[in-house]
Amino acid sequence: MSEPAAPEPAPVLSTEGLSVFAGSREILRRVSLAVPEKKITAVIGPSGCGKTTLIRAMNRMVELSPELRIEGTVRYRGRDIYAPEVSPVVVRRRIGMVFQRPTVFPQSIYENVAFGLRLDREEEDAVERTVVTSLRRAGLYEEVKEDLDRPALSLSGGQQQRLCIARALAVNPSVLLLDEATASLDPIATQKIEEMLRELKGEVSIVLVTHNIAQAARTSDVTAYLHQGRLIEMGATSELFEAPREKLTEAYITGRFG
Ligand SMILES: Nc1ncnc2c1ncn2[C@@H]1O[C@H](COP(=O)(O)OP(=O)(O)OP(=O)(O)O)[C@@H](O)[C@H]1O
Ligand SMILES: [Mg+2]
Repeated sequence: MSEPAAPEPAPVLSTEGLSVFAGSREILRRVSLAVPEKKITAVIGPSGCGKTTLIRAMNRMVELSPELRIEGTVRYRGRDIYAPEVSPVVVRRRIGMVFQRPTVFPQSIYENVAFGLRLDREEEDAVERTVVTSLRRAGLYEEVKEDLDRPALSLSGGQQQRLCIARALAVNPSVLLLDEATASLDPIATQKIEEMLRELKGEVSIVLVTHNIAQAARTSDVTAYLHQGRLIEMGATSELFEAPREKLTEAYITGRFG
């Protein structure tokens, strides 16, 4: 008799039959998937297939677009994040998001990272400790430690993106959603962010939306392939890239359409 398979650990985030409508158009179609804890999950697929919409639905950002309507369920550690008693602000702190273009504020490096902590009215020495730790976790501290009062807008694009990651980490999220976070960066800045993500995944679960198939292949543990709003296939990254089960996945990863 074969050994029973080890039970799958509970996912940190999951969707069940998740649909998003813009008017009568269904831009996400009954997507059910599970994001494993403390791993990197890549979400890939052609432009317009619904990647951004999917991750915006995963932390209730999609509600900031009143023209969109949601059906189905999103659970964080088993709890429905859209339940009436759940605050979207709390959801977005547990499930942080970083966008394609760095969204730094016209303030100092320090204040950019301290932003979420100021809302908590924390003591300054606690704020300072968290700012330093978050900059370290984002792999930026060594480059900026001499002058944390410098305007954040004077940083390079890659540094600004790591600053945004530090700001997201400062409030101690369990999940970090990254939407094409390296798309506007050069290969060296991209490599730094990928290294940092690999280190971070011991502590945070990461969902990485990327156009860059090579990036998904080299950084992620699990990959989800979306096509026209549907989840076509999801599985261990090595298997999905080496032996995709679906023709659509194969066509995409071999570059037969973009
Ligand atoms: N607020 C909205 N109102 C109407 N349509 C929308 C809205 N947001 C997204 N869409 C449509 O939904 C589809 C999916 O968009 P989404 O931004 O999720 O795609 P994506 O996979 O992230 O694309 P890209 O790779 O280009 O970023 C697109 O056709 C888009 O035009
Ligand atoms: Mg997008």
